[in-house]
Amino acid sequence: MSLLEKIDKNNVPKHVAIIMDGNGRWAKKQGKLRIFGHKNGVKAVRASLEAAVKSGVRNLTLYAFSTENWNRPQIEINALMELLVDTINSETKTLNENKIRLYAIGNLESLPKKCQKKLQEAIDNTAQNDKLNLILALSYSSKWEITDAIKKICKDAVSGNIKTEEITENTLSQYLNTSKFPDPELMIRTSGEQRISNFLLYQLAYAELYFTETLWPDFREEDFYSALLNYQQRERRFGMTSEQITQ
Ligand code: FPP
Repeated sequence: MSLLEKIDKNNVPKHVAIIMDGNGRWAKKQGKLRIFGHKNGVKAVRASLEAAVKSGVRNLTLYAFSTENWNRPQIEINALMELLVDTINSETKTLNENKIRLYAIGNLESLPKKCQKKLQEAIDNTAQNDKLNLILALSYSSKWEITDAIKKICKDAVSGNIKTEEITENTLSQYLNTSKFPDPELMIRTSGEQRISNFLLYQLAYAELYFTETLWPDFREEDFYSALLNYQQRERRFGMTSEQITQ
């Protein structure tokens, strides 16, 4: 029985979020430049998309570039932006063939203009797809996102669009970049690091966290299924007792 066959299709997370980590170390191990790792990381992106479609995951968020990544050497930033544009260009057809709809979250205005344009084109060109939402986190940080949401809520409160006493947890969710998507139920991080790194802090409140030693460029369909199977073995209690949820 393959790993995919072992997955209970009725208990697949609606949303999986991934911190794609370890590209640099993967390249270094082979005596290559870091960008070689990022380029090979695209293969793992493809494998994850394929695995998400086959297993029935409806939302997949990939942490592709964090706000903190702007502090990397300019040469690496440029190469990553170029890779992003090239990948978006070359993959739009495949996204459409597989009915995958592209979204982007983050401080998108800080991306190079060319990158913004290509991204928007791909977002528009895949808008009719409904099998899987691929959400790219680009120039994203959760603290930025929450701060931005609070600013917008304050503006709406001052202009009378919302009443302060009516603000709920759900209101904040609605002002986040991820308002269209359910909260991730599973977060995967590759490369052995066990951190959240400013990623979806509000949305991951009840997510199951899965860490694997596999470096991102080596991550394949089977690794994705292993994470799903591990998720399915967990008891999700949401603060309740084990007895309450098994009743
Ligand atoms: C982290 O590895 C990875 C990144 C910062 C970039 C991820 C980008 C891609 C896989 C490129 C394509 C993506 C899309 C969605 C088109 P790292 O550089 O931090 O590795 P290290 O921790 O080993 O140094």
